[in-house]
Formats: sequence, C-alpha cells, structure tokens
Amino acid sequence: MNFIFNEEQLMIQKAARDFAQNELIKGVIERDTNKTYPREQLKQMGELGFMGMMVQPEYGGTGMDTLSYVLAMEEISKVDNSCSVTMSVQNSLVCSGIQSFASEVLKQKYLPMLASGDTIGAFLLSEPEAGSDATSQRTTALDKGDHYLINGTKNWISNGKYGGLYVVIAQTDPEKAHHGINAILVDPKTEGVTTGELEDKLGIRSSDTCTVMFQDVKVPKSNRIGEDGFGFKFAMKVLSGGRIGIASQALGIAGGAYELASRYAQERLTFGKPINQHQVIAFKLADMAVKIEAAKMMVYRAAWLKDNGMVYDQASAMAKLYASEIAQFVTTEAVQIHGGYGYVKEYHVERLMRDAKITQIYEGTSEIQKIVISRNLIKNNLYLPNSKS
Ligand code: CAA
Repeated sequence: MNFIFNEEQLMIQKAARDFAQNELIKGVIERDTNKTYPREQLKQMGELGFMGMMVQPEYGGTGMDTLSYVLAMEEISKVDNSCSVTMSVQNSLVCSGIQSFASEVLKQKYLPMLASGDTIGAFLLSEPEAGSDATSQRTTALDKGDHYLINGTKNWISNGKYGGLYVVIAQTDPEKAHHGINAILVDPKTEGVTTGELEDKLGIRSSDTCTVMFQDVKVPKSNRIGEDGFGFKFAMKVLSGGRIGIASQALGIAGGAYELASRYAQERLTFGKPINQHQVIAFKLADMAVKIEAAKMMVYRAAWLKDNGMVYDQASAMAKLYASEIAQFVTTEAVQIHGGYGYVKEYHVERLMRDAKITQIYEGTSEIQKIVISRNLIKNNLYLPNSKS
C-alpha cells in the first residue's frame, strides 16, 4: 500500500476541505437545528463532482478511485454529516451498484443524472421487521409478466423524501428465500409510492430520513438490476463498498472533532497557560490522535484493497466497526476538552458527537460488522485479507 497520495487524490482532498471549511460550515448549525434539507449545498457538491466520484466518465462521472472518494468524504464529514451521508449513499450504494451490476440501458439512463447530482438516489433495504436481519424482506415485487407489482414498507430511508430514484430490494419468490429477492429501480413519482414524515433524529438532522410505502406500484421488469434472484447478493456486495463510505464518514467526524479540540486547547487558558500544556489535556489529545491514525490506516487500506481488485468485505467491515467506535470516543473527548462550551451548539463538537452515533448503526450495526468479520475468519480459518477478488 502506497502511503503517498497522488496529485489527483491531493487535489480532491483539498477541494473537499476548502468547500467544507468555507461553504458547508455556513449555516450548518441552523440547518441541523431546524432539520433544513441542504438542497443548495448538495447542488454545489454535484457541481464539484462529489456525487458520482467513481462513476466512469462515459456515464458522466469523474471516474476517480475509492481512495479519492474516501478523502473527500472525510473532509465533508468534518463539517456536515447530513451532506456526507447523502454523498455516501449516492456514491457507494446507488451509483456503484448501478455501475457494477445494472444493464447498459439502465446505466445510460440513470448514471448521468446521478453523477451530476441532479438526481439523488436512495437505497431501500431496511423494513420495520427487517433491519439487521436483512434476508427477512416483507416487501414484495410480484412478477406480473412484463412488470413487477411492488407492495410493502421501507424504513429509515436516507434520501427517502427528496430522492429522485429508489433502488428497492424486494421479495419476488418467498419460496426461494433470499435467492428470490430482486433489486429494482423505481421512480418515486410512480403512482402508489408515498413517503412518511421526516424522522426527528439525534444527529444528521437535516438529511431526509423517512418511511417509504408502496401500494400496487407497477415497475417495468427491465428496471431490475442483474439476473432474477440476484437482489440479496447485490445488496450485500453494494453494502461492502458502502461500509467504506460510512467508515470514512466516521473518520471525518473524529478528525473534525480532533481539529476543533486541538485548536481550542491551544487558545483556552487556565491556571495561566493554554490547556494543552496541562498533561491531562495533552494526553487526551494524544489518545484521540492515535485512535484516529489507526482508523485511518484501516479505512484507507479497505479502499486500497477495493481499488486493487482484492477482496475487501472483511476489511470494510473492520474499518467501519473501528472507525465508528473511535468516532464516539473522540467526539466525547472533544466535548470534554471544551468543557461547558462543548455542550452548546456554537462550538460544533456537540453536533459531531451526536452525528457519530449513527455510524455505529447504519449500513450494518457494529454487532452486524462483528458477524461479518467473525464469519469470514471462521470460513477462511485464518486471516487472509489480501486474496484477489
Ligand atoms: N457479498 C456477496 N454475497 C454475500 C455477502 C457479500 N459480502 N454477504 C453475504 N452474502 C450472501 C451469502 O453468500 C448468502 O448467499 P448463499 O446462500 O447463496 O450462499 C446470502 O448472502 C445470505 O448470507 P447469510 O447466510 O450470511 O445471511 P444471514 O441472514 O445469516 O446474515 C447479514 C446476513 C450479513 C447479517 C446481512 O443480513 C446484513 O448485512 N445485515 C445488515 C443489513 C444492513 O447493513 N442494512 C443497512 C441498510 S442500508 C443503510 O443503512 C443505508 C443508509 O441509510 C445510510
């Protein structure tokens, strides 16, 4: 693994940092407080090329590698995680899923509008009774000859309200269990699709999370991604990549909180000196930095494995597990270093602490990551992460 970023990676990292620190920061507290959807900010992110980073240029994307995407996610996540979750779902779940597995016709139809950011996509897997236990899909997509008829309810859908394209995972043939599941592209404006109220969340408050209901929704069969019955494998494969996105979000949250705490500890004086001159604070900063550095290695390595055609499911699960756990630790310590100021919105760290929690939950809880990791370990009988995919 190369520890020196190339020109393009450095350029993307800087562009994302400049945008986040100069533009996204404006109004982020108000958007979070009022649950205001960041429509203008997402539009700007599309213009900057952040919405289809790994989409090939022939489909309107910037054709970058996963590591560039990780670097951009990290910088955006230091400031606004409602924007970065939208970016993550768009890039890793929706665009990558379509690019890797959909028909040429679907790629040409949908990737350009997604890559430009004109259309935001959503990934509809979770259900009221199928969250972690994702094979228990109750939403049905019955085969009606030339079309599917979709019925059911999807929960906790990021980009559910304002998204312009849904990737819906649904059961076509219950007798075949998870081999009877399909992934189908659905236009949210189709008759029979309705959305619930926006969820009132602890963190990522301005991203649009809601329930989506389907009642006798007719979708052409040509909108199915891959072969009949490929839907569950599709979801699992796409989520392996998605977990690198959420791991970079967690890394960014931790990095953002560290930067704020480190600056504050330099400026804030107690007992006649900056608080970073007190060992109790200096050691906190050291612990935070070590954990961030370890997480960084894991997240970048997962991206590197993916970029180099290696198996990365286990590495991405490990990276997400660790980065989301340390994001909790680092943000909590950042609030502590700020003292009372850390507990009020103006200093940004309380928001990052709230945002950190969801990274341990979505795209597979920490407990699910441990299932994925331990099963991989048992299956391979030893730790063999670098095999070619
Ligand atoms: N790649 C390809 N196939 C895979 C796979 C992978 N990474 N992981 C599993 N599979 C396949 C298995 O091989 C198996 O297929 P076969 O029967 O043909 O061999 C099939 O999938 C079922 O796998 P399991 O037997 O392991 O199924 P399980 O029910 O025991 O466990 C699970 C599966 C890993 C727990 C899975 O249900 C899971 O990942 N759950 C978490 C769901 C999740 O992450 N939800 C996130 C929602 S999206 C989101 O959060 C987006 C957002 O808003 C930000």
